[in-house]
Amino acid sequence: MTKSYKIAVIGGDGTGPEVAREGVKVLKAAAAKHGFKLDFTDFDFGGDRYLRTGEVLPPSAPDEMRQFDAIFLGAIGHPDVKPGILEKGILLKLRFELDQYINLRPVKLFPGVETPLKNKGPEHIDYVVVRENTGGLYTGIGGVSMKGTPHEVAVQSMVYSHEQVSRCLRYAFEYTKKRAKNNTLALCGKTNVLTYVYDLWERAFHAMGAQFYPEIKREYFHVDATCMWMVKNPEWFDVIVTGNMFGDIITDLGAITQGGMGIAAGGNINPEGVSMFEPIGGSAPKYTGKNVINPLAAICAGQMMLDTLGETAAAKEIEASVINVTANKLKSLAAGQMGYSTQEVGDLVANGL
Ligand code: IPM
Ligand code: MN
Repeated sequence: MTKSYKIAVIGGDGTGPEVAREGVKVLKAAAAKHGFKLDFTDFDFGGDRYLRTGEVLPPSAPDEMRQFDAIFLGAIGHPDVKPGILEKGILLKLRFELDQYINLRPVKLFPGVETPLKNKGPEHIDYVVVRENTGGLYTGIGGVSMKGTPHEVAVQSMVYSHEQVSRCLRYAFEYTKKRAKNNTLALCGKTNVLTYVYDLWERAFHAMGAQFYPEIKREYFHVDATCMWMVKNPEWFDVIVTGNMFGDIITDLGAITQGGMGIAAGGNINPEGVSMFEPIGGSAPKYTGKNVINPLAAICAGQMMLDTLGETAAAKEIEASVINVTANKLKSLAAGQMGYSTQEVGDLVANGL
């Protein structure tokens, strides 16, 4: 019987729907070629819907999403909506409700793509960040008192349980093993200052590694030093595992070294549930509807989705086709400077499969 997957598509805001469309185009082509079926259902969550209805996300949405095999997301963020409302109400809400406790973000420089790092090429920039995705500062635990007065006090706590840390570390060790590149997992923390939280991470990291993954080399870097080495010696890294906030920050640095938001993709993964894949750039509202935005990040998010669903051959082929396009076709990854339109880039990748 033909394998079939149900995919929820949330195009979202700004250029989100345009890039998601090209992602879907490539996914359809890959499915046709590899003999599986993808059944797409569109959802209109985003800023326009919010401005029209006053509702950020229908209460039924998380349960509805649970009926799918995966979620494919364009972008969230609308210029007419105060920052935070849509990000918290849609993106973070789905990550939390669906317990997508891993944010997997490959940092890979493809041939033909320009990096701001001097004397570095694709052979130097190829690692993966495993960001814990539902805990830490993002838990939102805290509060404010005497707001608006000179005595205002605000607290937002970095919260981690042993269980949260362990399941993230387990995923990172398993991922490092499966990736089989340098068999090296680096913990990125701040044990010299965050002596409770990153001490917990560090002890759990070494205990788990020593007991269950002796073949994997363990390294530790403070987050500030991690940033330095990501610029100076990115070839040192194979897999990096870190908490939510540090992961957010270092993956933007990583993204710019791989060519920027036009290419960087990520997966919000619940290894036991429904995962959500997205280009990690924003909604780029000023380019909306112009057919100039780069859809490669969304296409790469689709590739990660197929890989996670187990369609690894199709995923590999999408990556190969993307590499052919970056190496031989595009003049630049920047919006409006690719030498091709958004749709043409989607066609190039789809036809190159
Ligand atoms: C990301 C984004 C989000 C985050 C924002 C939009 C809430 O920056 O996916 O990295 O902080 O996780
Ligand atoms: Mn971010």
